[in-house]
Order: sequence, then structure tokens, then C-alpha cells
Amino acid sequence: MLAALQNPSHEDVVVSQTDPESTAPKLAIPGLLKGQKALVTGANSGIGRGVALALGEAGADVVVNYVVDDDAAQAVVDQIEGFGVRALKIKADVSDETQVVAMFKQMIKVFGTVDILVANAGLQRDAAFKEMTLAEWNKVIGVNLTGQFLCAREAVREFSRRGVVPEVSCATGKIICMSSVHQEIPWGGHANYASSKGGIKQLMESLAQEVAPLKIRVNAIAPGAIRTPINISAWKTPDAYHSLMKLVPYGRIGEPEDIARAAVWLASDQSDYVVGTTLFVDGGMTLYPGFATGG
Ligand code: BGC
Repeated sequence: MLAALQNPSHEDVVVSQTDPESTAPKLAIPGLLKGQKALVTGANSGIGRGVALALGEAGADVVVNYVVDDDAAQAVVDQIEGFGVRALKIKADVSDETQVVAMFKQMIKVFGTVDILVANAGLQRDAAFKEMTLAEWNKVIGVNLTGQFLCAREAVREFSRRGVVPEVSCATGKIICMSSVHQEIPWGGHANYASSKGGIKQLMESLAQEVAPLKIRVNAIAPGAIRTPINISAWKTPDAYHSLMKLVPYGRIGEPEDIARAAVWLASDQSDYVVGTTLFVDGGMTLYPGFATGG
């Protein structure tokens, strides 16, 4: 499996797709991220949880950031430790500068450094535009966009201080911004959320351009509809699921593991020449499925 990924070929892909035993690929390649220290924000549930587990399975020590539900964060820590790596939960609101600075300080004290940041924490506060309050606007921009700015800034500071450690990774550090298909697709009733994701696109690309000479790789993942608590109303009933599928050419909802595998790859040296890219993991949602039969 490791050999196949180090030297991917069309044949490897075909074999894994047609082998009934391997329809559920392993979440991560054991050892791929050995010795790396990763921070995943919003890691107590949903996509963040899936990513944190996969990074741990791939050999990284992982900080599980969360802001509510201590028990859930602890459960993720316990599961990660089951992979034989270290895990630590840190409560911090990513939209609060003091808390973010303190979180990085604690991580560096315990783990020594930070090699990988997955800026994932995000939320929705949906409202019709006429009804949207300033509090709803500010909350979403604060967590989704300002939170990524604050965490990325602290990560870049630590990466620059440390420099490249070739035995660990050929890059000084890796940042993965969790975006959304809504960095491209407008979303009525969710103007705050779509604006935050559009902002993440420019934040990610501007930062990637600025810090690439320092050998810091910044990229984003843009998930489509993934089965998590944030969008439960879009998939919990058969009717909702059926209607969601009209937006997904690939014909199934995404699972957190679909995002987790992409994150492991982007965090690893396997993607060393990938800089400033948004990887859409969306079952084709951004392909304008309505145009398959219309237009
Ligand atoms: C949102 C989900 C939504 C998906 C596709 C995500 O970014 O958080 O609520 O289902 O985009 O529209």
C-alpha cells in the first residue's frame, strides 16, 4: 500500500477500485506522518474529528482543539492514543486571540513544536438576509475566518522560528485550511457562511504566496456535503437525502473519512509540490449538476 502511494500509477487505482476487499480504503498510511506534531481545530466532532484520527493513525502526535463538549474531545484523544501516538486536548475559542496564543504555547511546551495545522473549526448561523443579526454575522466570520487567520499566524511564527527539520518533513510546515464548496457556490440564506468561506480562499492563497519561499505549504480542502452534525437536516430523512443527491453527481453523501484521507495527503511530503491549491472533495457538487440535463 505504501509502495503504491509512493509511486502511484493508473493500475494501482484500478486494482483498488475493483477489488471488493478494498472498497473501504484505510484511513491513513501508518508511519506516513511519523514524528510530526499536528494541531486540528474543532476536532471533537465531524470533519475535524475524522481528520484528527487519520493524522494520528498516520503517526502524528495530535492536539485535539475544541470549545464545547470535553467528553467528546477526550474520546477523540483516547482513540488517537490507541494508534500508539500522543494526543492532547486543548480547549480554546479560535476567534479569541489570547486563547489561540495560549493554545500554541501549550502545544509547543508539551510537544516541542507544530508541524501541521489543520484550521478546521467552523460553524453556521443561518438566516434570511433581512433577518440576519450582526451577532450572527460576526460569530460566523469570527470563528470561520478570523479563527483561521489567528491559528495560521501562530503556526507561521512557530514554523519560521524552527526552520526545516529534514528527518521530519521536507517542508518547514504545512497548513490546511478547511474551506467549503461555498467558497465558489453562492448560498442564499447563508450569506455569513459563504462570505467566510470566500474569505478563506483569499486568505489561503495570499498566505501561500507569501510563505512559500520559507518552505511553508498552505493549501485548502473544500468539502461538499459531508455527513456531520452541521448539516444533519440535509441528510437525516430519506426525503432530505434524496433532494441532496440532486446536487451530488457521484450519488452519495461524503463521509468525514473522505476529507481525512485528503488531509493526510496534503499534510504529508507526498504532496510536497502542492502549494496554494484548493482540493475539492465534493462528489462533483461544484460541477453544476443541474446542467447535466438543463442549460
Ligand atoms: C456546509 C454544509 C453543506 C455543504 C454543501 C458545507 O460547507 O457546512 O451545511 O451541506 O457545504 O452545501
